[in-house]
Parts: sequence; C-alpha cells; structure tokens
Amino acid sequence: MKLSGKLILFFSFLIFSNTVFADEGMWLPQLLEKLNEKKMRQLGMKLTAKDIYDINKGSLKDAIVSFGGFCTGEVISEKGLLLTNYHCGFDEIQNHSSLENNLIKNGFWAKKTGDELPNPGLFVTFIVRIDEVTSQVLNGVSPTMSEKERQSIIDKNIADIRKNRKKEPYQDIIIRPFFEGNEYYLFVTETYRDIRLVGAPPSSIGNFGKDTDNWMWPRHTGDFALFRIYAGKDNKPADYSPENVPFTPRRFLSVSTAGVREGDFTMVFGFPGRTMQYLHSSAVEQIMKINNPVKIAIREKALKVIDEFMRRDEKIKIQYASKYAGIQNAYKKWQGELMGLTQTRAVERKKSYEAEFLKRVNANPQWKEKYGTLIDELTKSYREFESFGKNRDIFNETLSRIEAFSMAAQVNRLLNALQNNGEKGLMAALPEAENRLEELYAEYNKEVDRNLFSVLMQHYLEVSEREFLSPEFLSRVEKAGSVAALAENIYSESKLVQGQLLDDIQKNPVQSLPVYEKDPVIQLYQQLTGYYNEKVSRRLSEMQSNINRLQRLYMEAQREVFKEKVFYPDANGTLRITYGQVKRYNPRDAVMYEHITYLDGVMEKYKPGDYEFDVPEKLIMLYKNKDYGPYGEGGKMPVCFIAGNHTSGGNSGSPALDAYGNLIGLNFDRVWEGTMSDIYYNPEICRNIMVDVRYILFIIDKFAGAGHLIKEMKLVRPKK
Ligand code: ARG
Ligand code: GLU
Repeated sequence: MKLSGKLILFFSFLIFSNTVFADEGMWLPQLLEKLNEKKMRQLGMKLTAKDIYDINKGSLKDAIVSFGGFCTGEVISEKGLLLTNYHCGFDEIQNHSSLENNLIKNGFWAKKTGDELPNPGLFVTFIVRIDEVTSQVLNGVSPTMSEKERQSIIDKNIADIRKNRKKEPYQDIIIRPFFEGNEYYLFVTETYRDIRLVGAPPSSIGNFGKDTDNWMWPRHTGDFALFRIYAGKDNKPADYSPENVPFTPRRFLSVSTAGVREGDFTMVFGFPGRTMQYLHSSAVEQIMKINNPVKIAIREKALKVIDEFMRRDEKIKIQYASKYAGIQNAYKKWQGELMGLTQTRAVERKKSYEAEFLKRVNANPQWKEKYGTLIDELTKSYREFESFGKNRDIFNETLSRIEAFSMAAQVNRLLNALQNNGEKGLMAALPEAENRLEELYAEYNKEVDRNLFSVLMQHYLEVSEREFLSPEFLSRVEKAGSVAALAENIYSESKLVQGQLLDDIQKNPVQSLPVYEKDPVIQLYQQLTGYYNEKVSRRLSEMQSNINRLQRLYMEAQREVFKEKVFYPDANGTLRITYGQVKRYNPRDAVMYEHITYLDGVMEKYKPGDYEFDVPEKLIMLYKNKDYGPYGEGGKMPVCFIAGNHTSGGNSGSPALDAYGNLIGLNFDRVWEGTMSDIYYNPEICRNIMVDVRYILFIIDKFAGAGHLIKEMKLVRPKK
C-alpha cells in the first residue's frame, strides 16, 4: 500500500472506530470478558470480568435488580436492603402520603422492619443468567420473507424455547432482540413481589431543585430512597404476606466511603430502557425538526395548566405531583437532546459516516450487491414516514395528557371484551381495568382535566394536518362554537368524567357498561381513535415494519463494513454495564464544570419557602456546625459527581461502582448538554450524574438519625 493510502486508512480509523472514544457503550455483562475487560483494566479497573458476571458463583450482577421494570436498584445488605432513586420510589412515597401524614414533605424512616410499608404491585427482578439464542430464534427465517412471516416464525420459535427451557418454578424466561433483530438473548429471571419502603428523605432533599435543576449540572439532589426485598420463609419469591421475611441475597454491594477523584474508574450497572444509536441521519433530522418540537409544544401547554392548579390547591399538588414530574421530565429532556444534537452537528457527522459506509460498500462487489441501495432506501422511507410520524406524535401526546380519554380507553376495552367474549370475557378483563381506574382516579381532578381538554384539543386542532382530523370532531367543535365550549358541554354531560365509573362497574359491570357506551367522551374517543387508525395507524405500521427491516439490514451491514469498530447493541431494557472515568466537562466556550458538588452549593441555592429550593432546618444546622460525621472530606460535604458513563432512562437508581466493585454513587440523571447520548454519544459533553454515596450515608445517619440502617451495610475504605 502506498503511504497516502495508509494515511487515509489511519485517519478513517480515527474517525470511525468509535472505541477510540472512551466511555461510550452499553455493554452486555456476559460479553465483557471478550470485548471489554482489557479496556476496563486499562482505565483502572481492578476486577475481572468474572467478578462482574459469573453464572457459577455469586458475582456483582447478583446484587442488581430491575426496579419495577422502569428503574434500577441494588442490594446493599445481607437483609435485602435495597437502594434506588427517590424519583423511582416516588409513586410509592406519594401513595403513602396524605395531607395529615405527608411523607413527601416530611420524609419517612422505618425504625424497625415491622414499620416498613408494603407496596402492592411493586416488584424487583434479578437476572440469573444470560444465553445467546440467535440461531434457535432465527431458525427457518429467510432474507426474502415478508416482515410479517418473519415475525410469526420468530414468535413461534421464542414460544418453543420458553416452553422447553428448564427452569425453577419461581423463575421466568425472557427473550429479547438485540442489534435491531440480528441477535437474540435469553434471560433467566427471578422476580420478588413483596417490596417495602424503608426510608426516604423529604422531597426538599430527595428532589432538591426539582424541575429547574432536573437534567442539569451542577446538581445538589439527594435523589435516593431505601426499600427492602421480602421473601417467603424459603427465601423464594412470594406475594405480600406479613409472614414474609427479609430476603437474603446471593450478593450485596459494599459501600465505599473513600470518595471520588477526577480520573477515577467508574462503572454503572443497570437497565437502560431504549436508545437509538444506529439511526440513519434522516431519522435524526426528523427527531430534531419534527418529533421533539411537536411533543415539546404539547407538553408545555399541559404543564402550564397543571402548574396553575397545583400552585393554588394543596390537594391537587399532592395528587398531580408525580404526574407533573413525569411530564416535565421528558419535556425537558427532549429540549436538551435537541440542543445537544444541534451543537455537536450530529446529523452532519452521521452523514459523513454514511458517506464513508457507501464508499467502502461500493469498493466491494459483494457488499455493493447486498447493501448498495440501502442508504437511498432509508432516506426515501424516512421521507415518506415524516408526516405520518408527526401526526402520530400529535395524536398520542395529546390524548395521553387528557385523563377522560384514558378512562374512555378502559371502557372501550371492557366493551370490546363483552362484545367478543360475552360476560365471561368482561369478567376476565375487569381486574386490570379496575386497577388502572383506581390509579387514574387517585390522581385525577375534573376541573384540571377539563382545562387540559380545552387547551390541548384546541392545539390539536391547530397543528394537525387537515386530512388527519376526524370530521366528527370538527363538526362537534363547530356545533359547540369553540373547543372550550365543547369542553364545557362534554364535562357537564358526561357521566364518565364525574369519577363514578369505578364504583359503577364494581357494583354491576354488565348493566352499567351500556350506559357509558353512549357517554359523549366515549363517543368522541371512539371517533378520534377510529379515524386515526384508519388514516394514520395502518399506513404507519406498514412503513414502520419496512423501516425496521432496513435498519436491521443497516445494522448488519455496519458491523460487517466497519470491522475495526466494536459495536454495542442499543439499550432495550436489559442488564448492561457502562464504564468510564470521573470527569469534568466544558459545556461551551470558556465554561468549565467541576466533577463534584458540595453542600455549600445547596446553601447557595437555598430559597426559604420556595417550592423547589427550600432546605430543611435540620440540614441547615448540620451545615452550620459542619457536623458531617465520618462522611465529609476536608471540612466539606460532597453531594453529587459526574462521569462519562453512557447511561439512559432506566439507569436511574443504578449503582456507580469503583475499580473494586464497591458502591461509590447512585446514578440518577444526565447533564442537559449531553442528553442526546441516546442518539449520539459525544465524549466531550456526555456525563451521567450520581449522588455521592457519602451524602446518602450522611443523610441517613446525621439528618434522619437512622444509624441502624448504616449498621446493616458493609462500609469499606479502599486506599487510593
Ligand atoms: N431526569 C431524571 C430522569 O430522567 C430525574 C427525573 C426526576 N426528577 C424530576 N424533577 N422530575 O429520570
Ligand atoms: N433519570 C433517568 C431515569 O429515570 C435516568 C437519567 C437518564 O435518562 O440518564 O432513568
């Protein structure tokens, strides 16, 4: 090869081999030995891959759980004590709260196991082992099949594997696609269903800074809560019973009080939900130009309505607190994502990556045959998809913000069950509907909802493309005079929105359903969804399945064409390891953010009586007296720190571990500038945010006086 050729190869290696970038990637624990161990040790890790994941003896993975299917938690004592985020346990904390006994405001600390509070419906799941099952799952699948045929073979294969796989009666088998459906892995899991609340700080600590600080660095939130896993007397999963006993884990994490320095190795172990690292540039463009802005605008309106009510009414404030936080969370994230993608010129970079891909493909006749038209096809398919995707987002985002429609959806489900399977079908569908309605009503206020309807349906009318708007809806608006008047009418006429539905169907489902069938909300709901399904949904799913096929092929092609690059699969709610180093960052010109925050920063932000930045008296006293016990450092109390670990939603509550596998922090967020890491990771500005475990210990011990919980843990102090 000529020198110039070598140079080109060298430079393209620099640009395209992504593992040159430290810290990117969400790795599969069972593949660490093969893909990552060496790199991890270079970064400072003192463990072996087997210490992290081993199916033959206890390893770190045995201390990690999926918390309720949406967050992560970790076992930190031999009595099943479980650490996760405050915001992950917030629903439970809210459920145990009332105006008289407000856990949100005051916090909660069980003095003994007998005082710990059960939480029906909450569960945690351990991963026992992970096995690759690609060849079994794809057995009988061919490249020329339609997506539908392909999926039905895969579904059948998965059902067979699950049926034939040996497992204990208390275990489950889960099979998930990876690399856009190019690989499949099987998970043997154990799920515990008696999970009790042990301790939570007041929200002025657990959610300090609330929405203003959410997704932001510098951060000063003590975002943690403690639960305990209970098991039957045999230590196996069991439904809630007062007879259950604290669970004895195979493994629990030791807690390090040594603290962190810049450059320290860290890894985060947990269940990231969903990322899209391998999208084609035109999909990223659409997210930026269309999908995010559309959803942001709707949420902005919803938040404004709810906020006005919450500020006026203490009861509504409690009722809507969790919902509000949830709506606000994605609202703010999408904005950060948009900003980060713009600032890092992600689309441009994707495009040059695609150009390099094409160049390599065209230089190889075999690849050219297989992948030559792929990029064009992707571009074309995404273009077709655009307006359907936009209207899908408008429709879904609007309807999900209006609870009357969520209630209508439940009635609809019951009506369908009755129609298709008679009374027996109805009875079978009832329990789930009852649960859902109970949840809905607990966090529902008719006036708030009417206002949401009025504001959001008006917006819906304005931003939807005409051809996608249901004519029945339009004529209802016309008849009423305005959307606001329609809201007035509907919310006074409808029986559904009065909050009686649950009682009625519990008393007599067969008789009460037909009454609701004629309810104006149900009718409107049926008209809206009916029209949407006909005009948008059907076409959309065809297009989506075509895009899925192309993205799957593109994934396969990238792995083949960029041989020098080590690929990791997109997050899909399964157990992953990410690793990196504690690191500050430079968000924009001339600005540098340090890697750690202190209690001093809490006091800087302190605004007495403020909704977001009030600080409990006791914490102020501890600060004034520098009463930090053994947890402070150099006369200061550390609060949060950041590192380059590649995390995502679902990694909340994930442990941050040091080079030896000790707990040093609790993951709970990412920095505003770097939230685009779900789509495009950039090592310069992507950082995850963790609570320093010393702050957690300090709050439990010195603030809450719950030293008995510290005694349960195993504290260590490895030398630096
Ligand atoms: N942004 C974090 C996450 O995505 C924390 C959210 C909870 N806090 C809040 N203020 N909403 O879940
Ligand atoms: N707070 C997020 C969660 O609830 C984790 C932060 C993130 O998305 O990185 O999972």
